[in-house]
Amino acid sequence: MEEQRWLKTLRNCQSLLQVSEFAATCQRCPLRKGCRQVVVSAGVTSAKLMLIGEGPGADEDAQGLPFVGKAGQLLDNILHAGGFSRQNNVYITNVVKCRPPGNRIPTEEERQACLPILRQQYRLLQPKIVLLLGATAVQTVIDPQARITKVRGQWVEKDGVWFMPTYHPAALLRNEMLKKDVWDDMKQVIQRYREVVDANHFPKRKI
Ligand code: URA
Repeated sequence: MEEQRWLKTLRNCQSLLQVSEFAATCQRCPLRKGCRQVVVSAGVTSAKLMLIGEGPGADEDAQGLPFVGKAGQLLDNILHAGGFSRQNNVYITNVVKCRPPGNRIPTEEERQACLPILRQQYRLLQPKIVLLLGATAVQTVIDPQARITKVRGQWVEKDGVWFMPTYHPAALLRNEMLKKDVWDDMKQVIQRYREVVDANHFPKRKI
């Protein structure tokens, strides 16, 4: 489909389900040829907390859902401690929706090709808080020059929406010492969530 018509069709999607269906047909970049399926999102479409990762890995490509491998299980545990879950109050997606071969970092071209889908997801979801998981998400959404070690834990506010950069859960699997930082970032998310979404939201773990 030619560029303008593709963008117009995407922007005409009125629901997140429609976006998923449209994304499933996407052939805009070479990633689609090397993966099994397009992995668009998980979670609830009424969520006010949006999570953005990098891109699907092998498990996600096999199951068609984001963050279902080892890193995903760790992410679910962190969310659970914070009183969040994909069944109740989060919406999870990635910068790119197709698995990069060998789980390499998606290229700038691949990210740009996929970005309109992420934008449309964001527009329709209208989150109040966005948790950016790792450097690829932070650099794509906030600042291409950002260093995750420098910016994590610091809020970025854009048009009333709060963005919190933190480490990717896969980084925690490689280095356990980062877990404390991520929990500190999560505590900030919980507090903000209580302020801007639900004053009666309580974490499972003490903050
Ligand atoms: N890593 C990501 O960034 N996203 C996934 O969905 C799985 C692993």
